[in-house]
Amino acid sequence: MKLKVLVTAGDGIGPEVTNEAVAVLKDVMELGGHTLELDFKRIGGIAITTDGTPLPQETLDAALASDAVLLGAVGGNEFNKMSPDKRPEAGLLAIRAALGGFANLRPCLTFKELSANSPLRPEIIDGADIMFVRELLGGAYFGMPREYNKETGVGFNTMIYTRAEVERVAHVAFKIAQARRKKLCSVDKANVLEVSQLWRAVVIEVAQQYPDVELEHQYVDAMAMHLMNRPRDFDVVLTENLFGDILSDESGVITGSLGMLPSATVGGKVNLYEPIHGSAPDIAGKGLANPMGAMMTVALLLRHTAKLEKEAAAIETAVRKLLADGYRTADLVRGKDHGYTMLSTTEVGAKVRETVKALLS
Ligand code: IPM
Ligand code: MN
Repeated sequence: MKLKVLVTAGDGIGPEVTNEAVAVLKDVMELGGHTLELDFKRIGGIAITTDGTPLPQETLDAALASDAVLLGAVGGNEFNKMSPDKRPEAGLLAIRAALGGFANLRPCLTFKELSANSPLRPEIIDGADIMFVRELLGGAYFGMPREYNKETGVGFNTMIYTRAEVERVAHVAFKIAQARRKKLCSVDKANVLEVSQLWRAVVIEVAQQYPDVELEHQYVDAMAMHLMNRPRDFDVVLTENLFGDILSDESGVITGSLGMLPSATVGGKVNLYEPIHGSAPDIAGKGLANPMGAMMTVALLLRHTAKLEKEAAAIETAVRKLLADGYRTADLVRGKDHGYTMLSTTEVGAKVRETVKALLS
């Protein structure tokens, strides 16, 4: 097969972790005799500095001409004073909107070797396996009108959804649930927000087409608590943009480190793949960053865009093996006398690739 990927490594640790992700993607494609065409463009803070905008036209054009976009991370402390529409994050939101992917899949995985990394007790988290389906193009992130008026001292955003927007993401979530444990929890705030009343009504309607999936509803505040108390009770969690942003970070606590987690955004013209973690400017350039989230993101790219399931699974297995063999990155240990073998970003990349090669040849 032939695959064309645009790589937008972005800021902070983005370039370091993306290097390792791209290296394993290259290996896998080569081993399978597939053709990989790579293109590299700027996004986020580096694009603001170089091109004066967080999403240059050139990057957008290249993205739209690709089969998939692999993104590192965006953001940096030097941009913190800028208004939201000028910041590095605006580049990410703009590319999401342009590519059209409305369903952001965020698996909350657990790794038995990392269960001591979570502040939650092992008997609460062991075996937890949740797939968040976060609506990515609606709600308060994109709703109009929006304003911050310094003169009047008023700021507001609009959390808005249409029936069609809820329907399409609900279908994605129900289909994923059918292929998993057939449970779907829809999260809203229907006791207070009209937009959530629409959300819930549409989800209930769509559910009629998936009678084999068990549907429950939770208010977002209660859900924030249930996730910490009984994460194993959840399979697919469907929610709107802002609630999904918050709950997926919270769920990083279940995994033990956000550095392990990938995401895929599907349903639009071009799928967008990004690790969940941010640009972590404090550790950028030091070789400390954990590239496993970015490498797991390549697994999702292979699974969802390239339909190369065996290759995707090989990367996931290799990451789990690395942990089982006692290797760790800085985000995965506490204190000094932990007894693990510490690896740098590139060392993790090399080890994972070595295992992937062994598994596939
Ligand atoms: C995420 C991030 C982004 C979001 C930011 C960087 C715009 O927090 O992907 O979760 O809020 O969606
Ligand atoms: Mn977030």
